[in-house]
Amino acid sequence: MSDETDPQSAIDAAGERRRAELDDRIFDHNAGDEQEGIPFVGAGPGDPRLLTVAGKELLEAADLVVHAGSLVNSELLAEYCDHAETVTSIGKDLEELIPLMRDAHEAGRNVVRLHSGDPAIYGAAIEQMDALEQEGIPTYFVPGVTSAFAASATLRTQLTLNEVSNHVAFTRPQGKTLTAEEDHISEFVEMGDVTTCIYLGTHAVADTMDRLIDDGHDEDIPVAVVYHASWPDEDVLVGTIGTIGEKLDAAGHRASAMVIIGDAVTGAGYERSYLYGDWANRGSDSDDTEPDDQETATQ
Ligand SMILES: C[S@@+](CC[C@H](N)C(=O)[O-])C[C@H]1O[C@@H](n2cnc3c(N)ncnc32)[C@H](O)[C@@H]1O
Repeated sequence: MSDETDPQSAIDAAGERRRAELDDRIFDHNAGDEQEGIPFVGAGPGDPRLLTVAGKELLEAADLVVHAGSLVNSELLAEYCDHAETVTSIGKDLEELIPLMRDAHEAGRNVVRLHSGDPAIYGAAIEQMDALEQEGIPTYFVPGVTSAFAASATLRTQLTLNEVSNHVAFTRPQGKTLTAEEDHISEFVEMGDVTTCIYLGTHAVADTMDRLIDDGHDEDIPVAVVYHASWPDEDVLVGTIGTIGEKLDAAGHRASAMVIIGDAVTGAGYERSYLYGDWANRGSDSDDTEPDDQETATQ
């Protein structure tokens, strides 16, 4: 493979370019606009109805869909991609994926790269996009519903909740990718008002909880594990730092679950927000200011 078509050299070059100047397209398009090139589409958490309308339209017009394998529901592929060639990206490295998408695009086929959830969360989309861009093929993002949002809907809670949780952390546990020093789960829990959403951590729940206990955290802090949120076989386990490991062990899930730590899991103890209290009654000078625009309001 020549330097020009080597994905690693594309990634290195893009890193430099990103530092030097912003991409003009940032100012030319809105998220959701159909654009030239290959869209990197978020499939959502699983239920085909949780795909965006933009994503659905792109899939319906696709000739080739390169999808993220087991986390993209086959029902979604059957419903929207029946007419298209579908290929899984599992087991393919960049050296195989990039020519696959490039050749199809250059042959005039509509190519869609379909990621699970939202491609911007643990999706490794940018490296594929940069490698394609280096080959002269434009790319763009189409957002999707990330699995943490599907899990919070299942739990009938909010990830931010007045007087309970003011922040949300999207994170993953230590392992092959993160060192122990790069694992910040214990720090997020320590902060007390953070809802910690753990991706890629189903297999590591027991170890993660043991570490939290070793770090001195209260074993009664609520933890939920939502397996396959929005899929027909969705399974919800609710426990605490002290109990969730055993519950998960009994359920037998080793992958494909969202782990949420914090009081937002139960929603207990929240207080009425300013948004529909004092703020609502205070009024506004501007007719087009909705309550949601009042950034200072506590939600
Ligand atoms: C490679 S990451 C991709 C995340 C994806 N981009 C997103 O926004 O949800 C895969 C991890 O996302 C989580 N995940 C993806 N889909 C899920 C679902 N339907 N229910 C629960 N967790 C899910 C799991 O933690 C899984 O290990």
